[in-house]
Amino acid sequence: MMSKNWRPATQLVHGGTTRSAHGETSEAIFLTQGFVYESSEAAEARFKGETDGFIYARYGSPTNDMFEKRMCMLEGAEDARATASGMAAVAAAILCQLRAGDHIVAARALFGSCRWVVETLAPKYGIDFTLIDGRFLENWEKAVKPNTKVFFLESPTNPTLEVIDIAGVAKIANAVGAKVIVDNVFATPLLQKPLELGAHIVVYSATKHIDGQGRCLGGVILSDKAWIDEHLHDYFRHTGPALSPFNAWTLLKGIETLPLRVRQQTENASKIADFLAEQGKVAKVIYPGRKDHPQADIIERQMKGGSTLVCFELKGGKEAAFALQNALEIVKISNNLGDSKSLITHPATTTHKNLSDDARAELGISPGTVRFSAGIEDSQDLVDDFARALKAVSA
Ligand SMILES: Cc1ncc(COP(=O)(O)O)c(C=O)c1O
Repeated sequence: MMSKNWRPATQLVHGGTTRSAHGETSEAIFLTQGFVYESSEAAEARFKGETDGFIYARYGSPTNDMFEKRMCMLEGAEDARATASGMAAVAAAILCQLRAGDHIVAARALFGSCRWVVETLAPKYGIDFTLIDGRFLENWEKAVKPNTKVFFLESPTNPTLEVIDIAGVAKIANAVGAKVIVDNVFATPLLQKPLELGAHIVVYSATKHIDGQGRCLGGVILSDKAWIDEHLHDYFRHTGPALSPFNAWTLLKGIETLPLRVRQQTENASKIADFLAEQGKVAKVIYPGRKDHPQADIIERQMKGGSTLVCFELKGGKEAAFALQNALEIVKISNNLGDSKSLITHPATTTHKNLSDDARAELGISPGTVRFSAGIEDSQDLVDDFARALKAVSA
């Protein structure tokens, strides 16, 4: 099939499209919860799986199917399920394959809600966990128990942009028969391909770069067909995390422009990182595209570009962070990321406020830590915005 050879920018405009009898240019939104059958026999055959076709929108529907196929093409995955949010994807990917008595090893640098699923929700069902500093491969090896079934990580991490060696983790998991789930939100499907690196399951919050325009929540789980058939298929049908077809359509429109947006966002993030690194009021800049990133060698091997995010620390702590955020005009204060609008957040008082002081310190989140998500604005306007706002920060 010709589409197999398409490069990402082409896949994201045309991949998975099916047209109705009207031959519409833009993908159609099939806002229907059900489907009708020509006869009772046809309904029986569909339910028995003897004929192809949709049954009920909680199981699958045409607009969602287009979104899932397009994501599969981009990710190099055999199959996918689109979910109502990123957290629905994470929770389903973890829970669908585990039972009481199983054990998860997870990198401790996880988005707050992901950590809650591992630390609080899973144990309620008798699933044990170990949280580790995932940057060091020996920690994964040491944490393995005879009942370890899942390794879970995000890379780069939120908010300190630590990087984990996915191929190294996958090798350890394969040796003990565990599955590796990668939350690839921060990298985007364009800058990092976890399945190619040996991971088994990839999850996204499509709310971030995939929509990219701050309109809707969404998520997706991608893997090989055998894993989806064995673990996710029934879980998905019967617990109902399905994405709304309207949001699937919004996401289909969003990913058409993903490569253009991620290119501009990465360029903007890189310029802001370099600018901030020169400023006396800034103690530290962490940016995966810079040579001074602590894991620059792994980034070189496993990522195709820097990042759309920059993490930095102001010398003046929380007061300085708040002063900077409040003085920015173009960059908006918001805890979302991957949007075409530049956004900034203070993790210690927002996204990571539920962690203890010690847990925040372990992750490198200090009172002066700020996370910047680059938008697609003109890069010089963003540099000017930061330059002006930094003047409001007392030295
Ligand atoms: C790394 C990561 N994973 C998962 C999620 C959850 O996504 P959603 O908000 O779409 O449920 C987020 C949201 O911020 C995230 O940053």
